[in-house]
Amino acid sequence: MSLIKELENKIKDIFKELGYEIDTISLINSSREDLGMYQINDCMKLSKIYNENPVDIANKIKEKLDAMEEFTNVNIAGPGFINITISSSALKDYLNNISFDINLLIDKKEKKNVLIDYGGANIAKELHVGHLRSANIGEALKRLAKALGDNVISDVHLGDYGLQVGTVILEIKNRYPDLPCFNDDYDGSDFELNITNDDLSVIYPSGSKKIKESEEMHDIAKKITLDMQQGHLGYNKLWEKVSAISLKQIKKVYDELNTNFDLYEGERDSIEYIPKVLELGKEKNLTYISEGATIMDVKEETDTKEMPPIILVKNDGAYLYGTTDLATIYGRVTRFNLDEIWYVIDNRQSLHIEQVKRAAKKLNIIDDNFGIDFIGFGTMNGKDGKPFKTREGNAMSLEDLINIVKDETYKRLNPSITDEEEKKNISNILAIGAIKYADLIPYRATDYIFDPVKFSDLEGKTGPYLLYTVVRIKSLLRKASELGISFNKINEVTDKEKTLCKNIIDIPKVLISSYNAKSLNEITDYLYTLASIYNGFYNENKILTEENIEKRETWLTLSNIILNEIIYLLDILAIKCPEKM
Ligand code: ARG
Repeated sequence: MSLIKELENKIKDIFKELGYEIDTISLINSSREDLGMYQINDCMKLSKIYNENPVDIANKIKEKLDAMEEFTNVNIAGPGFINITISSSALKDYLNNISFDINLLIDKKEKKNVLIDYGGANIAKELHVGHLRSANIGEALKRLAKALGDNVISDVHLGDYGLQVGTVILEIKNRYPDLPCFNDDYDGSDFELNITNDDLSVIYPSGSKKIKESEEMHDIAKKITLDMQQGHLGYNKLWEKVSAISLKQIKKVYDELNTNFDLYEGERDSIEYIPKVLELGKEKNLTYISEGATIMDVKEETDTKEMPPIILVKNDGAYLYGTTDLATIYGRVTRFNLDEIWYVIDNRQSLHIEQVKRAAKKLNIIDDNFGIDFIGFGTMNGKDGKPFKTREGNAMSLEDLINIVKDETYKRLNPSITDEEEKKNISNILAIGAIKYADLIPYRATDYIFDPVKFSDLEGKTGPYLLYTVVRIKSLLRKASELGISFNKINEVTDKEKTLCKNIIDIPKVLISSYNAKSLNEITDYLYTLASIYNGFYNENKILTEENIEKRETWLTLSNIILNEIIYLLDILAIKCPEKM
């Protein structure tokens, strides 16, 4: 258990002992650090319940707290705030007892079974900057939820069922008309498809241009998509092959972003459940035909915004984005034991997920308690404040974007690193760290501006600054080891080390609060605070040459804990650390 939780429980017992019933007591970071580390605000609440002056309650509590060796400097301020500071000995004992295992510093929460839907790459299309945030936020939330004790399944939910199918097949037919899958008498036998991912990266745009320019082509692409959805043998075989080629490349990019999934399923994997969903709609009399389409109302009386019906089958028989998402939920809840599904998707798709969620509940695919959580995020913008684009005005591929940052981090490497391969490896790690950290700084729903120079800076609130701190502590501890100096004991906590210790033990609150907000900004903030406080300490004290051996051991031990904690948190953000930089 975390020290804070342990102390909160003890304080709660004191309230109880004195006759005050209360569910939880919170040690809140003090707004006046000169008065104490934490403040307890609960006396105000109790004063209303027990009709007693809050200062009187606070005084009674203070008397008990004064007698505990875990606390010092207990004082009362304002209308009944209790200011309180954890004693040096309590900090020392606690940190020594957990043997510096960060896992023991945090509190697990009540376990949930969660499926996280993030990534959302589209088959045969390049991953672009719009997919970046879903990967970063989703991967980090997955790791955070696991760290706090949830069972998590991650699913990339590939886009592989919409009009891009027809667009790509149309273009392949145009370029390779002799492929057996296009024969009327194609029997499903295997054939060779000599297409690379580089080919695909021109095939989709070229097909897309055609269907935009010609209505006839657009109709053909629609027809091919529909035929594929209705089981056309040749198109399905071809699409499977295209998917395999494309998925290889998609995985490569995700790999670069330290992002991976338990399931690489797509919209197409949901088709087996579509008939069930449609059946439910009929059975419950919820769906109806309108202008040839099968639709379902999801509006509720309390709606203040427009809530159009969800279209399940178009008038030509085609299925839509909502249909596959609904069928996907059906598949997920029938195969897995789940409490919640989280969707990490661009804010602009919130209406879509709301429609799907309501439809799933009305159809009883999930019950009312089941959590469908839309974790929407803002866009990454260019300097003009609009979603980041290439100079030609297209969405930039994710690989190109990563390369821009790699060039920046490469420039900033320490000149003592000369091996070209090593330089590349390190600048790659730094670039991913720079991108991810910058991406996770703002609250997730907020837009931010792509600024590769700022992101890569070694100073300030950046990924490289944190990684530099890691490298610095690692190097310090390496030197200590080489000199045979041990660092596994805190001998004394004086005022000098207290701020460091206080910040170390703050981690559980940060994790829980980040989890509740489903946003990583509190973790990025906290990381920056930890690193800045440590770097200040490092600059003020000559750790390795300190003559007082006990002090030196304490400082090195604290350095080690800070190092482990920073690495632990960076790992939650899916950021790797270099050995040097
Ligand atoms: N493929 C979609 C896109 O690129 C994102 C998919 C999001 N997930 C979902 N279950 N709808 O916009």
